[in-house]
Amino acid sequence: MIKPFQNPVFAALDVATLSEAQALARSLKAHCGGLKLGLEFFSAEGADGLRAMVDEGLPVFADLKFHDIPNTVAGAVRAISRIGVTIVNVHAAGGVAMMEAARKAAEDAAGPSRPLVIGVTVLTSLDEDDLRSVGVNSPVRDQVLRLAGLAQRAGLDGVVCSPHEITALRQAMGPSFKLIVPGLRPQGADVSDQKRVMTPEDAYRLGADVLVIGRPITAAADPARAAAQIAQSLASLAA
Ligand code: C5P
Repeated sequence: MIKPFQNPVFAALDVATLSEAQALARSLKAHCGGLKLGLEFFSAEGADGLRAMVDEGLPVFADLKFHDIPNTVAGAVRAISRIGVTIVNVHAAGGVAMMEAARKAAEDAAGPSRPLVIGVTVLTSLDEDDLRSVGVNSPVRDQVLRLAGLAQRAGLDGVVCSPHEITALRQAMGPSFKLIVPGLRPQGADVSDQKRVMTPEDAYRLGADVLVIGRPITAAADPARAAAQIAQSLASLAA
């Protein structure tokens, strides 16, 4: 079933400077549901940069993938939550105690307006051979489901997943577990280095909650127009 439309697209701003991120944010503001900023931006511009992006007025996903002992991750999530981001993520491989600490830290820092705390399962850059080399002897899909189950048990709000995992995760985790989905390409777009892509419309239809889209928007000749076209095609699905 298609959900009531509210723009689910978070534009991935994979840039290293605040001025580039602000310029993109301003041109995309009317056409995206939020912005995703990652480790490159955070390493260059820090908490002040992230705060400046929150001040731009769109919800911000801080894609920082924390993974450390519970006490340290709790401190990081507390600090990020105070900045006012809307989504933050941690590696589910950090374990249940770490994820519980992350969720509690978000609540302690921001109460009911806390960010969604999302788990990262298996990075899509890793295949079964890579997993085996680090001592994980399960197929990627089993490991994704195992880690998503742990994330749910720890009280996390959802996971980041490949579009090809939406159906299995939705079925296993139920309707309210948030699925945040990158690896999307509008029909006819350049796939760049993404290997197994899906269109935003198909991912939305299958039950993705947040669609993370980078280069099809940010590398377009007219990013605002590209974002507006994606938003329109998603809105027409929900109509
Ligand atoms: O430009 P593109 O649409 O490929 O960007 C997707 C964004 O989502 C990038 O910021 C990338 O780091 C992130 N991402 C991804 N695949 C994952 C997890 C995150 O592409 N499995």
